[in-house]
Amino acid sequence: MVEITLENLTKYFGSVKALDNLNLKIHDKELMVLLGPSGCGKTTTLRIIAGLEKATSGHLYFGNKLMDKVPVRERNVSMVFQSYALFPHMKVFDNIAFPLVIAKYPKDEIKKRVKEIAEILRIDDLLDRKPHQLSGGQQQRVALGRALIRKPTVLLLDEPLANLDAKLRVEMRSEIKRLQRSFESTAIYVTHDQVEAMSIADRIAVLKDGQLQQVGTPDELYHHPDNIFVAGFIGTPSMNLLDCSFDEEKGVLDFGSFTLDVPENIKPLLKGYSEVIVGIRARDLQVSKEKMPDSIPLEVYTIEPLGEETIIILSSENVRIRVVTHVEFKADIGEKVWVSFDLDRMHIFDKKTEKAIV
Ligand SMILES: Nc1ncnc2c1ncn2[C@@H]1O[C@H](COP(=O)(O)OP(=O)(O)O)[C@@H](O)[C@H]1O
Ligand SMILES: [Mg+2]
Repeated sequence: MVEITLENLTKYFGSVKALDNLNLKIHDKELMVLLGPSGCGKTTTLRIIAGLEKATSGHLYFGNKLMDKVPVRERNVSMVFQSYALFPHMKVFDNIAFPLVIAKYPKDEIKKRVKEIAEILRIDDLLDRKPHQLSGGQQQRVALGRALIRKPTVLLLDEPLANLDAKLRVEMRSEIKRLQRSFESTAIYVTHDQVEAMSIADRIAVLKDGQLQQVGTPDELYHHPDNIFVAGFIGTPSMNLLDCSFDEEKGVLDFGSFTLDVPENIKPLLKGYSEVIVGIRARDLQVSKEKMPDSIPLEVYTIEPLGEETIIILSSENVRIRVVTHVEFKADIGEKVWVSFDLDRMHIFDKKTEKAIV
């Protein structure tokens, strides 16, 4: 049983602030994803939890135990890092078996466990090879095998699938989740890929510039983003974020080339705001060749057919809007079409603070 608590963690590298007062609780047996763009402090956070890096200030707890000064080897964590270091002189089998050998497991048990984990990771035909005889993706899976073989209570994974091709990455992430569940490990999984994060996480912590933006289930982040950054980062295609102003007198959102009536229930929430950003997902817009009630005329800017569905980018003066539509909808570049908003699914952010109002 391990619950991990990060309390006011701040980390400077010289004058670079890599982590800025990070507070986060990772529940026992939970798979928490740290998600954010390159350089936002994900690896630094993992290294502090592993004990490879010291925080400038703040504290780390495993359960109630203060871990700040506990050496790496006493933390009982398994790690897979971006740069996986395998033992070059050892065969794959011995690389994976290593943690069990150190822990003096019986030979039969080691054999059985290595075979099991190698089958799951689909490297069971590589056990006699040395690391230099493997591709990057195979080496990465060996590193995963070595981290997982001990059925760790705390598992730290830093972009563990980065070197795999797209298909294998999708397969491996569900295997990792299954193993983490069956071992009942508390896991922290780092990635910059929001699709990977959404598909594997119990909860996601979104970081930007060393600051925590939001923590929640994939569903919460997708449907209720707390700010513009999370709104734009989560979801494919990314959410339309449109500059506009709220005209309290007329009760409309003014986008320049068109306006939208604000639903009655939202009006009181917008009181006092003027410059806002409207967020609407491409799937919450409807496009048609005929005028619909409350629809806006826009021009087709580009069309991206994706098989099942088509992304159409529409424009009107300074506004660009992405819409996801059925492949059957055909239109030409430059053609005029009509778009209606699902206003119940509209997000509104304060332009100044970038925080969600609605
Ligand atoms: N050892 C280091 N020395 C100096 N700066 C570092 C070091 N490690 C990380 N940084 C800086 O700290 C910030 C966060 O880095 P990192 O945690 O590696 O981000 P991420 O893993 O999210 O890409 C970046 O600006 C990075 O350049
Ligand atoms: Mg990193």
